[in-house]
This record gives sequence, C-alpha cells and structure tokens, in this order.
Amino acid sequence: MKANARLSQLRELIHYHNHRYHVLDDPELADAEYDALFDELLALEAAHPELVTTDSPSQRVGSAPLSQFATVRHERPMLSLDKCTTPQELADWLQRCRNRLPDEAIGLACEPKIDGVAVALIYEQGVLTLASTRGDGQTGEDITANVRTIGAVPLRLSAADIPARMEVRGEIYMPLAEFERFNETARRNGAKTLVNPRNGAAGSLRQLDPGLTAQRPLTMYCYSLGWAEGDWQPASHTEALEKLTGWGFRVSPDVSRCKNLEDVQRFLDRLLARRAQLGYDIDGAVIKVDSLDQQRRLGEVTRKPRWAMAFKYPPEEATTRLLDVEFQVGRTGAVTPVARLEPVFVGGVTVSNATLHNMAEIARLGVHVGDTVMLRRAGDVIPQVTGVIASKRPAGSGTIDLPEVCPVCGSAIVYENDGVVARCSGGIQNCPAQRKESLKHFASRLAMDIEGLGDKLIEALVEASLVMEPADLYGLAPESLAELPRMGEKSAAKLVTAIARSRQTTLPRFIYALGIREVGEATAISLANHFGRLDALREASVEALEEVPDVGPVVAANLAEYFAHPDNCALLDHLLAAGLEWPDIEVTAQASGGPLADQIWVLTGTLETMTRDAAKQRLVALGAKVVGSVSKKTSCVVAGPGAGSKLTKAQSFELPVLDEAQLLERLNELENG
Ligand code: IVH
Repeated sequence: MKANARLSQLRELIHYHNHRYHVLDDPELADAEYDALFDELLALEAAHPELVTTDSPSQRVGSAPLSQFATVRHERPMLSLDKCTTPQELADWLQRCRNRLPDEAIGLACEPKIDGVAVALIYEQGVLTLASTRGDGQTGEDITANVRTIGAVPLRLSAADIPARMEVRGEIYMPLAEFERFNETARRNGAKTLVNPRNGAAGSLRQLDPGLTAQRPLTMYCYSLGWAEGDWQPASHTEALEKLTGWGFRVSPDVSRCKNLEDVQRFLDRLLARRAQLGYDIDGAVIKVDSLDQQRRLGEVTRKPRWAMAFKYPPEEATTRLLDVEFQVGRTGAVTPVARLEPVFVGGVTVSNATLHNMAEIARLGVHVGDTVMLRRAGDVIPQVTGVIASKRPAGSGTIDLPEVCPVCGSAIVYENDGVVARCSGGIQNCPAQRKESLKHFASRLAMDIEGLGDKLIEALVEASLVMEPADLYGLAPESLAELPRMGEKSAAKLVTAIARSRQTTLPRFIYALGIREVGEATAISLANHFGRLDALREASVEALEEVPDVGPVVAANLAEYFAHPDNCALLDHLLAAGLEWPDIEVTAQASGGPLADQIWVLTGTLETMTRDAAKQRLVALGAKVVGSVSKKTSCVVAGPGAGSKLTKAQSFELPVLDEAQLLERLNELENG
C-alpha cells in the first residue's frame, strides 16, 4: 500500500478509536494496540514529513512552542451568565421570560455548569482550524495548538452533514481523579500543586509549549453550537447538542429537558446530590430556554442572555482560620499533619479538620498557626488546605514545628524523600497508632474481611493490650472480649467466630492484608498470580519482583525490605502458626523463547516517536524482560533525552546503551525475522 493511502487509513482508525476512548469512554482496543497504530503513524509521517496534516492525530503530542498567543476576535460574542442561588430568583427569571413571550410554552434545558475554561472551536469543512479562549467575550487568545493535544476534541469530523463552517463552544476541564493524581505526584516531589482543577485547566491551556499541555490530563464537554453556516440550522439548543454528539463531540450526559419549574427543581436537587460522584467540578447548573427562536427573541442585556440563568450551588472553596496543627500516625508510620480549623461551611458540610498532606506541604504553603487559610472540599476527597492569605496573618502567629519524635509512642521520626515524608520508626511493635491502623487495614473488607471488627473495637483491643499484632486476633478468648466496653457475651462469641472464619482466605487477600507500603489490592493480585505461593514471594529478589506486571522499582524495594525485616518475618510466621490458609495459585509457565529471551532491558529518558509503554510491549513480545532499574545483570539500556542516573549507572557498568533510533532499528530487524 502507498504511504499516503496507509496514512489516511491509520488516521481514520486512530480518529475512530480516539473517539471511542475519549468521548464514549468505551474503548475497543487495548492500550498497546492503540499505541502500535499510533507508532506506525508517527514512523510513517517521520519518513514522509510532506504528508503530515494539521488534523493528523500525531499533532496531539504537541507542536513547536509559541512565543505568544495571537488575539482572536470572536465572530459572535461569548456571553456570560446571570446567576442566582434561590428557587425564588429562578422562578422570577422564568416569569420574566414568560412576560416577554406571552401565551407561548417555554421548554427548558438544564445542564451542569462545569467549572473549567470556556473555549470556542471553529471547524471548516469538518477540520478544526481555530480554538480560542473566551477572553473578554469579544476577543480571546488563539490556543489552537494546545487544544489539539486534547483527546476529547475532534480534530476532524467525518459525518456527511457537517456545516461548511461552524463554531462549537464548551468547557475544557481537568477531571478530579486526574487533578488528584497530578497533585499527589507534585506533593511527593515537593513540587508546586494545583489549587483546583479550574486553575489546573487554565494553567495548562496557557502554556506556550503545546508539548506541556499534551502532558496535562484535560478533557472537554461541549455545551453549545455557537453558530453554523449553511442550510441546516437547529431549532433548539438540545437538538444542536444531539447533533454535536452524533458528530463526535463530547457532550454531558446530564443535559435534561424540563417543562416547568418543578422539573427544573428536581434536576437541580438530583444534580446537587450527585455532585461528589460526577468526577469533575461544577459550580452549579445552567438553565436555558431550549427553542433557539425564543432565545433570539428574548435577546440579551449587558452581555448576558435573557434566555439563560446559572443556578449556583454552595461553593467548594472557603477561607477560615487555622487553629492548630496536629500530627497523625498512619499504618506505615507516616506522620501526616492535620489542620484544626475554625468550623466553616464548605461543599455542603461544616468542616473543622483538613489535611495538610505532608511536611513539605507545610513548608511550601508557609502556613502559620492563626493564619487565614483557603480550604477546598470537593468530590469524595477529604478537605484540603490549599493556600494561605498572608496579608491576614495576625501579629505573633506561630510557625509550625515539625515533630522530632512520634506524638503517639515517642520513637524517633525519620525524614525520608528530602523531608517530604516523616515516618515514626517505632513499627507496630512499639507504636500503638501504627498497631491500630495496621489492624484496621488487616480486618478491612478487601483484606481479611472480619465482620464486626470495626475501628472502635480495634482501638479498644489495642488500648487494653489484648492485641499486639494481627496474629493475636486468632487467640482472643470470648471471655476477655466480653470485658470490653459495650461488648456482651453474645457479640463476643460472634466476633470470635468471624475471626476464626477469616482463617480460610485467599493469597491476594492475605498479601494485601499485610499492609505493605504501596501494595494495594491490584498489586496484591498481580503478586499472587505471579508467584502462586507465599514462600516464593517471601524469597523473591528485587529483580524477580520487578518482573511482576505493575510492580516498579519502588514497590519492589518496599516488598523486599518488608520481607527482609525480622519483625515482619516473625509477624508472618505467627499468622501462619495461627492457622491462616489459602489455596496456592497455579502459575502458568511464562511463554519462553523469542530472540530476546533471557535478556533484561531498561528504558529511561523520553522517547520521541513512541511511548515507553509501546516500546516495552514490543520488547516483551520479543521475549525480553523490561525492568525499571539498572544492575550488572541488565542486558541493554535504552536512553532517550533526559536520561539521568540510570544512564550513568549503565555507563559505569559498561552496559550496551541504545538511543531511540538504534532501538527502532533493532526492533524492526528482530520483528521482521
Ligand atoms: S452557556 C450565554 N453552559 O459558564 C451562555 N456555560 O458564567 C453562556 N459554563 O463562560 C454559556 N458550563 O465557561 C454554558 N453548560 C454550560 C456551562 C457554561 C460552564 C461556563 C462558561 C461560561 C460561564 C458563564
């Protein structure tokens, strides 16, 4: 097949799968299969640069940096919205509409008011040619190169009925889970966190280097057709949204037609109740007159349409005073600073505690006791202090001293990771807080699932020194339990039965129950499937651990360290002696062979024409093991730009090092026989 024909075919395929993944949330290809198509496209375009088009999916990785954004004049102004907060104000608004349209039925459309960044997308002959910010409503900035990197934004539309030119409007936002993940990484690295998803989205779109935007997890919901040229014109807002969905745009599934105020109120109540589960920030709902003809006749005043109203929900951000900072000790000894706050109503509840995450965060925020702080409570996430209003700092406010000893057991605190993480060195043997938290984890639903053994009871058991480690649970006598507060004979007997029943478990549950750092449920399952037996896992080397899917160098090191520690060995032996058992898992022999069988490869730095995952898949398919750390046993290291200590190490061990071009050459050679 000619390059040009294959390129069109690849672009078509990638557009299709991209839409399934980003817009429909229903992929039909495994990530690796998608990556393979993408890699083929990149390779073919690299070989034929003259055939690269602006609507090619390859443009999503980000084009060359700009020196500044060009200004764009909107063909029709992007209006703002009038807002209200009470049902009465909403009723008044609808009455005003009715007064202007006497004797007409007014259909309404209700939708979430997404808290992101408004953008306008212009499509010409179905191709995205311009994306701009709202700016002042008249003129915005040309952010086309950045918007092209967002998977949910179609670069090209293929339906037969696309208007010759049209403008689609909507909100670009950062999903909450992605926002949390971004901040989690930033906190671990002591880097600056995003205050909220809206700032995250705005900051990402303001990057002059589209390559940076491409790395930010943004998506988009389209909320209106700005205008369309041609014979087809929608009769209503909701008809336009249906068309947009059909053409491949991402439209909120929560748009609802309403006939009257009661319908609207039900929509508002239901949306508010689901707010935490939506997965993105909303600051309210937008209620629009659905008929576009009625919209035209209602018109606008002072840059706000008469035909729409924003109903605002209680804010998820607030300011309050920091009364004190306390330090909590977790299951693995991590010491977390917790802010005690003057109670404040935020995100629908009264909040008096919030997390400060870690020691570096305290330093980064520069927070003092007595400060006025900004607080955020959104989604299902615990309330967080996101900033300090330094201008409101009272005289004589106190800085926050980081503890040197554990506030619970007095053991020394060890600072790890450049002071980001503080950890009590007591272990569960010495620290009651760690003991309580490990036991809570051990008994929890996804671990040993001991019914009736709740947090309060565990605390009482530890405080009465009845349980020092998990194995002690299995020796508890009903008589000693019955002496605990609020525990009768009957419930004591029931609990003993539930504990005894948990002896029959599964290997993944048992591994998870140990509470090893960063070994969650999914990792526990992978480990169990890979090793099949506990002994094999206990004896595994770091290298062997790294061969497990999803286990990187950090988790492998945590595991090896855990199993090497004599206290943990004793703890495990006690559990086995207490009669815990599970069926071993049959480990299917890994398909061996392939030209790279028995070789261990390491990928480091960035790869330009393919993702690291795609490279890994191709190496694994050839029989290689791909691991995260360099050792003397490493067969080969692939180093892209930005490679650091792993490359230095490889050089000091005199290992073969390939660059990306050499890797590609090798892969092609080996794959073709
Ligand atoms: S309609 C004239 N619909 O809210 C109609 N706006 O305060 C204006 N927004 O700049 C837009 N979700 O960024 C509309 N479903 C939605 C929206 C929405 C969020 C934002 C938009 C606009 C701002 C107006």
